[in-house]
Amino acid sequence: MIIELNKIRQVLMSHMTIIPPTDLGHDILHIDRVYKNAMRLCESYPEADKLVVTVASIMHDCVPIHKNHVLRKRASELSAHECLSQLDQKDIKITDIQREKIFDAVLCHSHSANIDTKFLESKIVQDADRLDAIGAIGLARCFTVSNSMGQSIYLADQPFTPIDGTAIGHILKKIITLPNLMHTPEAKKIAKDRMEIIKLYLEALEQEIL
Ligand SMILES: [Fe+2]
Repeated sequence: MIIELNKIRQVLMSHMTIIPPTDLGHDILHIDRVYKNAMRLCESYPEADKLVVTVASIMHDCVPIHKNHVLRKRASELSAHECLSQLDQKDIKITDIQREKIFDAVLCHSHSANIDTKFLESKIVQDADRLDAIGAIGLARCFTVSNSMGQSIYLADQPFTPIDGTAIGHILKKIITLPNLMHTPEAKKIAKDRMEIIKLYLEALEQEIL
């Protein structure tokens, strides 16, 4: 089973390596970190189906649609369909319940999709993806994605206002809310620690620019 899972992981990671990411905040390094976060969270849930979590965490962004694109809100739905299609094309055998759970986990992972989930595996994948938006890596990704959308770091007259359209505004509007949105206790704990880095960064920034 472990050998089979490793093989599935390799096949799907190879697939994701050739998919051009929307931006460098969603590249193959992001996929690898989300997979590793998910495996770490699985350690607290031996009942979680690791095949489901492996597939969904690697394939959650398999249809990359830029945040400015009109189809962006459908990205997770399109990724869920494409994920199952890739499993069929690569002849990766799964049960009907695994199929249902993988579709659900990919569909529900996105914050913007705003869809509730009933499956533990979906909660693990969503937490794993959200953890990559917090802490030192979360800051780096925020600036990278913001830059890809042509946004300023902050607005001169309201640098610390939680608004869309700037990197700092996004941190204050969305990223600082993520620890409270985590499903699993382990993810909540990691998120709390990672938020300390963001708080320190914002305090330092305030001293530098105000
Ligand atoms: Fe992601």
